[in-house]
Amino acid sequence: MDMEKMMSDLHKSGYFISKQHLCGFSISGKTDELDPLWIQEHLDSQWLGRHICCFDQLDSTNDLAQMLAQHHAPEGTAVLTDYQTSGRGRVGRVWQIPPGRGLLFSFLLYPSMEAAKIPLLTLATAVGAVKALIQTTGVDAGIKWPNDLIVQNRKLGGILSEARFAGSCLSHVVIGVGINVHTQRHEWPVELRDTAISLQQATGIFFNRNELFSAICRECEHSYNQTFHDPDPIIQDWTRYSKTLGKEITVQTPSEEYHAVAEGISGDGALVVRTGQGEMRTIYMGDISIRHGRRQNDD
Ligand code: BTN
Repeated sequence: MDMEKMMSDLHKSGYFISKQHLCGFSISGKTDELDPLWIQEHLDSQWLGRHICCFDQLDSTNDLAQMLAQHHAPEGTAVLTDYQTSGRGRVGRVWQIPPGRGLLFSFLLYPSMEAAKIPLLTLATAVGAVKALIQTTGVDAGIKWPNDLIVQNRKLGGILSEARFAGSCLSHVVIGVGINVHTQRHEWPVELRDTAISLQQATGIFFNRNELFSAICRECEHSYNQTFHDPDPIIQDWTRYSKTLGKEITVQTPSEEYHAVAEGISGDGALVVRTGQGEMRTIYMGDISIRHGRRQNDD
């Protein structure tokens, strides 16, 4: 067996391998413990993830990032943890994943943009994360509006963006991302077993979370820079990776539920749908489920 092939097989099985200048390879054991020093050495982003706070356990990375914002932590600061005791999802849901099984992090941004455009940062994060996942793992990852990362029609990850204002001025935005990396079927609560998926379940491969995270920093930085400058290409990329558009969906808003077809995404990140009566509606808040090929409990 040639050396490169052997190293590639070991890497797929979860061994952490780095190429050493002049003297071949170093193999550091089957682990993907979060390693901020490794990440900082291997990052090729300019500002995103350049300051990293990494913990074994936290209530929620979003909460810690909010606290760091009060202390004026630098733009692009990232908070990572192995486990959250009070991880939060959208619309007040709990986001729970066993220790060491997920990539859980938050970015802190101080964008100068109108409040109405903040949802674009969530779309930009989804685009960056999907690109990084495809490049790093080869999975056919996509996006379900507004911010679910999906693989094989199941939820691989989610994004929770939280903005804070000083009066009417945007002070900062915390963007929290949770990606299921190693969770096994038996580790999911029964009600999620058919709707959630991890990278390891989807591919059989043990991906290293440090490598995934540094690829996400690179791609999200590119997406954010683009969004600050001209968001059109982000909307185009979002459309390209969308697994929602053109599909029959059920829309659940705080006030109603109805069937529609997902037609497009507006310039400020809202979903444009056509109802059964042919009426076009723009949805800023709510949830959708895809009706075709729908699984039980699909969310
Ligand atoms: C969702 O799909 O509902 C969004 C889930 C977002 C979860 C991430 S995990 C890291 C960050 N910290 C949190 O408490 N939530 C986000």
